[in-house]
Amino acid sequence: MVTDDERERLAEGYRAFGAESAPESPRYSALAAAVAGDRDVLDFLLGLPPGKRHPTLLLAALRFLGGVPADGAELRDRVASDAVRLRDTVLTRATQTNEPARCAALLPALAAIDGPLALVEVGASAGLCLYPDRYGYEYDGRPVGPPGPVRLRCTTGGAVPVPVTPPEVVARIGVDLQPLDVTDPDDLAWLRALVWPGPVEAERLQRLDAAAAIAAREPPTLLAGDLLDRLPDALALVPDGATPVVLHTAVLPYVEETRRAAFVDRVRSLPVRWVAQEGAGMVPGTGEPHPGGWGPHFVLSLDGVPLAHTAPHGGRVDWLG
Ligand SMILES: C[S@@+](CC[C@H](N)C(=O)[O-])C[C@H]1O[C@@H](n2cnc3c(N)ncnc32)[C@H](O)[C@@H]1O
Repeated sequence: MVTDDERERLAEGYRAFGAESAPESPRYSALAAAVAGDRDVLDFLLGLPPGKRHPTLLLAALRFLGGVPADGAELRDRVASDAVRLRDTVLTRATQTNEPARCAALLPALAAIDGPLALVEVGASAGLCLYPDRYGYEYDGRPVGPPGPVRLRCTTGGAVPVPVTPPEVVARIGVDLQPLDVTDPDDLAWLRALVWPGPVEAERLQRLDAAAAIAAREPPTLLAGDLLDRLPDALALVPDGATPVVLHTAVLPYVEETRRAAFVDRVRSLPVRWVAQEGAGMVPGTGEPHPGGWGPHFVLSLDGVPLAHTAPHGGRVDWLG
């Protein structure tokens, strides 16, 4: 039995998402506001497990099944008429947005490590952040890396140590609760459905497709499971002579607090280098956490030491100190 309090709490979450998402996606902002005011849609969501009610998941599932709803009325109709498929999609899929542009934020930290590098990315999704050496960059217009269809533009502030060339990567190993396979049309369609409609949508979809083509030619090794449980298996795959680098970006807010602390302790105890790009405070010592763990900027850190503030998707890096 759904109570008014539960409905109001969920509506409040959708209103907050509507406000936050407005700059990047006016359409999602409007749809979230419509959900907040729609008792039937809220009740559909309240019939799902608590972890499956978030706006990004509902909106991606709608987009995956039949495109982005034009307005709140269409969303409401589709929730009513397609409830079984929608419920199934939300239950079997997760928010796994894979943004290769984050490599522009990671590169200055990765380039500071003696290589060759064996990247072990936890929360890798489809592993598209495991190819920092295969993408081309423009830092304030200055090119770095190979030419090609993936060009990551980044503006900088402060003394960002932009490398002349990307580091050598000899192993691409990922761990994810539910790894996605870019050669599977459904998984690729899900990754595309996770991109928000709006002013930067076309650029993001082009980048996603181009990065997926690179990953399809040279697939990563992706292990299914929890980051803490599978880390030893992933590190066991690091080839001799390579520097193991544990890497994660936009993952720790999804991990429950005590598991997150255990993961941080584990990584600190291992003979590895550690590169993170996460919301402030998700790695201890990187600032005050924002509600939910995200916030307007992420913090790039190396071995737990904060190096830079970055745009969440990597388009800006401001070096600290
Ligand atoms: C927002 S995505 C980020 C993907 C990628 N790191 C990027 O930045 O493009 C978060 C990923 O973390 C994964 N994830 C969440 N909790 C996890 C856990 N406990 N263990 C392993 N992966 C996890 C999710 O399945 C999802 O693919």
